[in-house]
Amino acid sequence: MTRTLLVTGGAGFIGSNFVHLVLAERPDWKVVNLDALTYAGNLENLTEAESNPNYVFLHGDITVASDVDAAFAKCASIGGDVSVVHFAAESHVDRSIESGLPFVQANVLGTQVLLDASRKHGVARFCHVSTDEVYGSLGKTGFFTEETPLAPNSPYAASKTASDLFVRAAVHTHGFPAVITRCSNNYGPYQFPEKLIPLMIANASEDKDLPVYGDGMNVRDWLYVQDHCEAILRVLEAGKDGEVYNIGGNNEYPNIDIVRLILEHLGKPESLIRFVKDRPGHDQRYAIDAAKIKNELGWEPRFTFERALPETIAWYQAQPLWMERVRSGAYREYYQRQYGS
Ligand code: NAD
Ligand code: TYD
Repeated sequence: MTRTLLVTGGAGFIGSNFVHLVLAERPDWKVVNLDALTYAGNLENLTEAESNPNYVFLHGDITVASDVDAAFAKCASIGGDVSVVHFAAESHVDRSIESGLPFVQANVLGTQVLLDASRKHGVARFCHVSTDEVYGSLGKTGFFTEETPLAPNSPYAASKTASDLFVRAAVHTHGFPAVITRCSNNYGPYQFPEKLIPLMIANASEDKDLPVYGDGMNVRDWLYVQDHCEAILRVLEAGKDGEVYNIGGNNEYPNIDIVRLILEHLGKPESLIRFVKDRPGHDQRYAIDAAKIKNELGWEPRFTFERALPETIAWYQAQPLWMERVRSGAYREYYQRQYGS
């Protein structure tokens, strides 16, 4: 039977990588991409998909019930069982510190609108793409498991936690067929250059300062985006309703080491590093225990950091036009507010 996927936020970083993966790996599936094209949504991430008869883009907002209904109507006209993979969100911690309301709107309200519509129209499965940031921050030791108490620290993380809880409530109350994934930091092609890795690549390429928050010793667990997308596909196809699956790379680096690696790969001097005021409430360390998805679903990362980071740097270097367009307009205004001149 044909499977029709309603992907929300498919024009963003991870969503667009997921759309490419599904079109390549599941040639009998259809993909409907519902995206509001916020500053982070970029249809240029999907130019290769545009000519694929299995793919359709719908410009719409998950907080608007009529937009979501229209997307389900499109799925119904295609036929087959419908599953939702929900990426759409406001995703940047620094922006959430500036203003939390857009995060409540998109991440909490948007998720509930999508849940209501999914129950009304009927779905085979709903995969809610969440983050390890719902667990808060770790000290020097330990890992986040699926049982770690939820303790979000940033407005972004709080809004994602709230959305996870609404998904959980739909499962518990209505027997809704949802799964939740919680992944660590991603890197790879098509990431908006407000996040650490593409920002540092862009700045270093232009011999601009690299703004490192605090002492640069905050630790993240980096996973290549294709590994994350393959894990989501695995959970979608084989996960158990109501379950949470952590996804991680077992690949911890302090920020300053990442920045130095990027400079080394680009042949740029460390004098470009500029230590700036720390992020308020900056989480110290994230690290995922991904034993559950490995043991129950057989997923493990395939890409090593040693291979995928240089490939990612090479990808951004080969896409000067993509970078130039992304860095225009709204992005520049935000950049100005965040870092000054
Ligand atoms: P992104 O910011 O690159 O993309 C978000 C997409 O959602 C954009 O295309 C945007 O236009 C769309 N969108 C935002 N609000 C919308 C709305 N109201 N209606 C419809 N579309 C809307 O984000 P990303 O980094 O690709 O993250 C995708 C998901 O994965 C998010 O839910 C995020 O919380 C989660 N996640 C991200 C990471 C990471 O490292 N980037 C790690 C773990 C989990
Ligand atoms: P980011 O990519 O924003 O992801 P998250 O905050 O969701 O983990 O940031 C990754 C790490 O890099 C985080 O510890 C903050 C730090 N960082 C900087 O030091 N400088 C920067 O300009 C940015 C954007 C992030």
